[in-house]
Amino acid sequence: MVPPPLTPPSLRQKIRPLPTIALPPLLLPSFCNYFITITIVIFEVVIDNGILQLTIANPEGYLIGVSYSGVHNVLENRNHESNRGYWDVVWDTKGYSGTDWLLGSKFNVIVENEDQVEVSFTYEWDSTTWNKSEVWRIPANVDRRYIVLRGSSGFYAYAILDREEGMPAANIFQIRTVYKLDQSRFHYMAISDDRQRIMPMPEDRENGLPLAFKEAVLLTNPTNPDLRGEVDDKYQYSCEDKDNKVHGWISFDPQVGFWIITPSNEFRSAGPVKQDLTTHVGPTSLAMFHSAHYAGYDVTMSFQEGEPWKKVFGPYYVHLNSVSLDRDFHELWDDAKHQMTQETRSWPYEFPSSKDFPKSVERGFVFGRLLIHERYKMRTMMAGSYAWIGLAAPGEAGSWQTETKGYQFWTRADRNGGFIIKGIREGVYNLFAWVPGFIGDYVYVEDIRIVPGSVIQLGDLVYEPLRNGPTFWQIGFPDRTALEFYVPQPNSLFVNKLYTDSDHNKFRQYGLWERYAELYPDNDLIYTVGESDFHTDWFFAQVTRRTGNNTFKPTTWQIIFALQDVIPSSNYTLRIALASTTRAELQVRFNDPEVSIPHFTTMVMGTDNAIARHGIHGLYRLLNVDVPSEWLRAGNNTIYLKQAKHESPFFGVMYDYIRFEGPPRTT
Ligand SMILES: *[C@@H]1O[C@H](CO)[C@@H](O)[C@H](O)[C@H]1NC(C)=O
Ligand SMILES: *[C@@H]1O[C@H](CO)[C@@H](O)[C@H](O)[C@H]1NC(C)=O
Ligand SMILES: *[C@@H]1O[C@H](CO)[C@@H](O)[C@H](O)[C@H]1NC(C)=O
Ligand SMILES: *[C@@H]1O[C@H](CO)[C@@H](O)[C@H](O)[C@H]1NC(C)=O
Repeated sequence: MVPPPLTPPSLRQKIRPLPTIALPPLLLPSFCNYFITITIVIFEVVIDNGILQLTIANPEGYLIGVSYSGVHNVLENRNHESNRGYWDVVWDTKGYSGTDWLLGSKFNVIVENEDQVEVSFTYEWDSTTWNKSEVWRIPANVDRRYIVLRGSSGFYAYAILDREEGMPAANIFQIRTVYKLDQSRFHYMAISDDRQRIMPMPEDRENGLPLAFKEAVLLTNPTNPDLRGEVDDKYQYSCEDKDNKVHGWISFDPQVGFWIITPSNEFRSAGPVKQDLTTHVGPTSLAMFHSAHYAGYDVTMSFQEGEPWKKVFGPYYVHLNSVSLDRDFHELWDDAKHQMTQETRSWPYEFPSSKDFPKSVERGFVFGRLLIHERYKMRTMMAGSYAWIGLAAPGEAGSWQTETKGYQFWTRADRNGGFIIKGIREGVYNLFAWVPGFIGDYVYVEDIRIVPGSVIQLGDLVYEPLRNGPTFWQIGFPDRTALEFYVPQPNSLFVNKLYTDSDHNKFRQYGLWERYAELYPDNDLIYTVGESDFHTDWFFAQVTRRTGNNTFKPTTWQIIFALQDVIPSSNYTLRIALASTTRAELQVRFNDPEVSIPHFTTMVMGTDNAIARHGIHGLYRLLNVDVPSEWLRAGNNTIYLKQAKHESPFFGVMYDYIRFEGPPRTT
């Protein structure tokens, strides 16, 4: 699952200096009068709009340099040219697994006028050569594009992957672009208003102490002494896709910002709450489109032999900005957020030239209202307030969270459940929804067909969440995360200071899984309905317990609840909504922890790895357990929840919500 280390193809060994250009430090209006120029020399393409200058390898298409605001190259000039701004795809096929850098073999100018330059680097898949050299080419045609607009302080990038009939089978695990910035300048990173900090240097990680996995390092001897004793781990800077719209880095001298702005999630895999990496030590900035992070093998993009497919990844915008040294550098973040708003508003962009990127008029929209019917909660319909509602490839309810090949279009309903989804590409979709406060997934019965200009009024849709009887008791809040449960403070030896004062980010600290055995040294967690409080008495993850240096044992949690009487020959229902599962087997037993065949088991499931990656959720699962009355008794009952797989500290589950329902009422 972990991608192999990057070994850039050694096609171009020579490191050429970039042409030096002098640019004024601030974006001035007069630059709008500067025509864009494009210069093509034998190995490179240089695009200059007077504000910035891009140097791109010809015909491979990777970005060699970005000159901006007097900085000769904001990318790391000491890296090999192919290792500064590149796409990579982690994939495998029969007999091979590796990385494809989507290198072009042909360069084309698509648009060249005074307002816009768009260039394309293409590779045409060739059945006779694709698997003949050491690095195999992914079975797809590739078209990589850059766009520079007049007066724009940045550039757009996108790529189109196109599989045709006759191409071999392949699995794709990751698709992204990587920008490696000048190490001597970019030290401050920002992901959101409250997630910004001075970052360590790559050598600080090399000089540090690797912790339970190689990505997490204790900084024992950092260049910046203020960071001594902190943990660095790129997974601490992950983010849900819905929130991953702008992130980047700031250089203090000169004060320059480099930002990746992703104005739409339509081309990212697996829906709005899929989590992924953003920025990390390097300084590195990522535009992630598809990965297994926080989801695992369930989201592998798998193609059968001959399976045709085409997808446009992007365009996203790389924004550069600068302020003079006498100004507060935070202005750069504010400007980046402002730019993000502008880009989001102009989505779908009108200027990309590829016919595979439909413009606004070629798209459609749907609107309607989501209502909820839960007869044991309320006789009347309730509004699907703040529901997540989206279109994705047809499938079962919830299938969107592992769907990777198509486009997804999500929105959030208003308080009354009303929603409008705009800018939908042509195609056949299902409409999916889930609602904070309610379990399960909704899917609308009929396919939604979008053609250019479609306006589809869906009217009132009714979601009936699974329910058999009245709630006897519940633990947690159904929102697909474990955030409402007890998230401990980190061990003081393994702190990331960014999250010390943040309640809603403290799950991002390193090593919280080890705190369980410290909190419950002798006996596992026992939760008594009516007495315990899930905010404090329910640990956020059911993890294993360390017994030796590399041995762990299973844990069994208990829920104790009283029943006045049991209705004979009836069925009760236990619903367990899980926020994450990693190689876990959850066994459920009623009133007898020793019964050899559990009353219910999930068998081994999940590879989302959210415990090790400091996620507060991975993929969502809803378990529905029928509980015949013979398993219960009047008085106190105990449910034993055993997570039986214990080979690693990272095997386990996170709960989202648990509910015990009585038998159906006949009225
Ligand atoms: C290379 O690909 C061709 C089909 O394009 C296939 O027939 C051949 O077996 C492959 N070679 C290897 C070593 O897998
Ligand atoms: C763990 O290993 C270290 C060194 O290998 C040893 O000193 C220590 O006693 C071991 N601890 C346990 C609990 O086995
Ligand atoms: C209880 O559930 C079982 C299995 O789902 C079913 O066969 C049985 O009819 C149910 N009993 C009642 C009283 O509903
Ligand atoms: C049920 O459990 C509670 C809490 O442990 C205890 O206070 C109570 O006495 C028990 N009731 C019975 C009938 O055993």
